[in-house]
Amino acid sequence: MIAPSILSADFARLAEEAAAVKGADWLHVDVMDAHFVPNLTLGLPVVESLLKATDIPMDCHLMIENPGRWAPPYAEAGAHNVTFHAEATDSPIAVARDIRAAGAKAGLSIKPGTPLEPYLEILPNFDTLLVMSVEPGFGGQSFIPEVLGKVRTVRNLVDAGELSILVEIDGGINADTVEQAAEAGVDCFVAGSAVYSAEDPAAAVESLRRQARAASPHLRA
Ligand code: DX5
Ligand code: ZN
Repeated sequence: MIAPSILSADFARLAEEAAAVKGADWLHVDVMDAHFVPNLTLGLPVVESLLKATDIPMDCHLMIENPGRWAPPYAEAGAHNVTFHAEATDSPIAVARDIRAAGAKAGLSIKPGTPLEPYLEILPNFDTLLVMSVEPGFGGQSFIPEVLGKVRTVRNLVDAGELSILVEIDGGINADTVEQAAEAGVDCFVAGSAVYSAEDPAAAVESLRRQARAASPHLRA
């Protein structure tokens, strides 16, 4: 699956930018609050409008403090998947439960420096694990390959039938990095600058998908 990130799109033309990635599996929307990360993007009103403007399932990545308060409304609004950060709350299971109760899939995200082990036990409460491969906050950064160990750990658990979760990666995914992420076992690839800096964003989505599929043992299976 390929999830273009509109962080690299033209914010004045979001509906057209969503239409430009026709064929994408998810539309990745980065919500930043200038507290959890040092950047500010958009919030619920924009997501509500964008939901009306596209049929692509929306993947909301909340880089915000207090997700217990702010995450469920994104699910109520109609987002397909709502992901918040493990580092932002002491009660991730309760937040996941509220997101699911509001009708969305629940995702847990961890920053590049955050170990996976303390969270392995709670992953059955989630539909998605979003492994950050750059420090959250900005598009266009370089991929951090060291995070792939976390991807491999979860992939092995899923393949062994011990866990059911979708593994998503976010940050620095492009034609040079998508294959190593696919080999490690990623299911869903977020790509911002690689898609929206391309002349034909929909073709860039298709090209990343082709590369990922060819490189990924579990996707070919
Ligand atoms: C960064 C965001 C990403 C960002 C990725 O904090 O979570 O979704 O858009 O951008 P690229 O693909 O350019 O690294
Ligand atoms: Zn993101």
